[in-house]
Amino acid sequence: MSIANQKGGVGKTTTAVNLGAALAAMGQRVCLIDLDSQRNLSHTVEVDGHGNRSIADLIYNHVSGIDYDPEQWLLHNEREHLDYVQASTMLATAPSILATSDNSSLVLSEILHSPVFAGYDYILIDCRPALDLLAVNALAASDAVVIPVEPESYAVDGLADLFASIERTRKTVNPQLRVNGILVTRADSRRKLTHQMITDLREVFGTQVYNTVIPYLADAAKAASEQHSAVTINGSRLGNAYLELAKEVVAR
Ligand SMILES: Nc1ncnc2c1ncn2[C@@H]1O[C@H](COP(=O)(O)OP(=O)(O)O)[C@@H](O)[C@H]1O
Ligand SMILES: [Mg+2]
Repeated sequence: MSIANQKGGVGKTTTAVNLGAALAAMGQRVCLIDLDSQRNLSHTVEVDGHGNRSIADLIYNHVSGIDYDPEQWLLHNEREHLDYVQASTMLATAPSILATSDNSSLVLSEILHSPVFAGYDYILIDCRPALDLLAVNALAASDAVVIPVEPESYAVDGLADLFASIERTRKTVNPQLRVNGILVTRADSRRKLTHQMITDLREVFGTQVYNTVIPYLADAAKAASEQHSAVTINGSRLGNAYLELAKEVVAR
C-alpha cells in the first residue's frame, strides 16, 4: 500500500508508522518502506546498528543489474513488531536513476516481488510529497493507496492530480491498483472549518472517506520525537484512532 499525497505535512509519515504499528498489533506481518529522502519514517522507527543500507541502493542495484540479497536491507523494530527498509538522502537522485531503466515505472514493484517480501501481510510505502517517477513506482508496486488529507480549504485541490496519476498507473502498468481510502488527519474538532471540510469531503468522495478521523493531537509529534508510534503508548487517543483505522483498512 502506498501512503500518498503530493502535499507535504498532511500526515503521510505519521500514518505509515501508526497504521503499520496498529496492523502489527493486530497480528499482521508488516514491513514499512521509507521512500522519502527526508528520512522522517526511518528516524522514527530506526533501531541501533541500522547501518547505511537504504532503499536508494536497492533501486540503484536493481537498475544497474548488480546482484543483491534484499534480506540484508530489512531492519527489525522490536517495540513496534515490524520490519522496515530505511531511506537515505540519496533517494533525491532516484528519479533520474529510474529513468535509465527500460521498465522505469516497475523497478520498485520488481524489488518488492522478491520472495523475501512475500511473507508480509502488509507492506506500507511512505511516499514523499511529489508526483514524480518515484511516486509512480510506489503506485505501480501497490495494490492499494491510502490518501491522508488535512481538513483545510485547499485539501482537495491536489487530489485531482493524484487520482489522475492513480488512474494512469492503473491503465498502463497496474490494473489491480485501488484507492483503499481517504483519511482525514490532523482534525481539530474545535474548529468549525474542520466539520465543514469533512462534510464536503464525504459529499465529494462518499464512502471512499474512512469513517475513522484522526484527531489533531500532540501525541503525534511527541511519539515521533521519542522514536516510536503512538500505538505502543497505552491509552493514547491517537494510537486508538489508528487501531480503529487499521480495522477499516483490513475490512476493505
Ligand atoms: N494527528 C495529528 N495531530 C497532530 N499533529 C500531527 C498529526 N499527524 C501528524 N502530525 C504532525 O504534523 C506534521 C506533519 O506530519 P507528517 O506525518 O510528517 O506528514 P507528511 O509525511 O505528509 O509530510 C508532523 O510534525 C507530525 O508530527
Ligand atoms: Mg513524510
